[in-house]
Amino acid sequence: MADQKINILSIESSCDDTAAAVLCNGKILSNIVATQEVHQQYGGVVPELASRAHQQNIVPVIHQALAKANIDKKDLSAIAFTRGPGLMGSLLVGTSFAKSLAMGLNIPLIEVNHMQAHILAHFIEEEGFDKPEFPFLAMTISGGHTQIVKVTDYFKMEVIGETLDDAVGEAFDKSAKILGIAYPGGPLIDKYAREGDPKAFKFPKPKVDGLNFSFSGFKTAVLYFMQRETKKDPEFIEKNLKDICASIQYTIIGILMDKLKKAVKETGITQVAIGGGVSANSGIRQALRDAEGKWGWKCYIPKFEYTTDNAAMIGIAGYHKYLKQDFADFDITAQSRYKF
Ligand code: KG4
Ligand code: ZN
Repeated sequence: MADQKINILSIESSCDDTAAAVLCNGKILSNIVATQEVHQQYGGVVPELASRAHQQNIVPVIHQALAKANIDKKDLSAIAFTRGPGLMGSLLVGTSFAKSLAMGLNIPLIEVNHMQAHILAHFIEEEGFDKPEFPFLAMTISGGHTQIVKVTDYFKMEVIGETLDDAVGEAFDKSAKILGIAYPGGPLIDKYAREGDPKAFKFPKPKVDGLNFSFSGFKTAVLYFMQRETKKDPEFIEKNLKDICASIQYTIIGILMDKLKKAVKETGITQVAIGGGVSANSGIRQALRDAEGKWGWKCYIPKFEYTTDNAAMIGIAGYHKYLKQDFADFDITAQSRYKF
């Protein structure tokens, strides 16, 4: 297989981004994402609207990915797709499309777990980016998940900690909603936080055993704090927005880092990678860079385009399954809850 060109078309449709990518031997030739704006007015993803938008977007997105990669359909080696976890109506669009296309082209089909793909994004060939060595710890932080995973090989992963309720992205987005910031609020909290004082206000950190997380109490604490303060001064939020955002972000990053430190201590593994939408956050990125200097960790921080949902990460996971000839049957179905 050494001098063979392995061209993989990958499809991601688990939530509200319709994405397709083409990879040749693990290198990205194209990486296209159509983000659905329809959800903004509702302050969160509306599953039925997401599914309909995927149906509209999937053909043009795949056409674009193939055109940009300058690859003809007949030169594809396999089709990789996100099987789960995610919204069922959204997953069904990508799954059905991938199955039909692979069947039509008579090439193998490769199923990918979305959460594993967020981790394997670190294996995309990119100049200036080192790849982690096994074993390493991965913290996947997104709008739907918060996990600490021990990774001993490409597909040997063990979840050693996860959220018991809300995901960390929800803690950002729900706090933003309380502050009157538009959905998804995470990136805007990050933006305002850069100009605020992280120690201006103190929010409680949840007490959760082991390596697990809980964020539902945090959101309630933010809500009660704002209600109390705006009763005293109705303009409290406007006057203190940057400091509030900085304090919220500081607390959330503190919660994540406390658990990561614990995981490093318990496993003895000092290589740490992050992935998922919240890994775009400047606070967590800085905290990991600081950890390299302070504690001698080696940290892997993804390129921005591989933090939020994308198909390149599905493609790299698919490529490593292709190398193992690990193909899916055509009667495979999408799985909204898909553990690994
Ligand atoms: O991975 P992702 O695109 O989708 C899911 O699988 O959920 O993650 C989306 C989440 C949202 O909650 C969004 O607010 C958050 O990632 N996010 C951020 C930042 N950029 C995206 N949160 C904090 N700071 C950011 N810069
Ligand atoms: Zn994701």
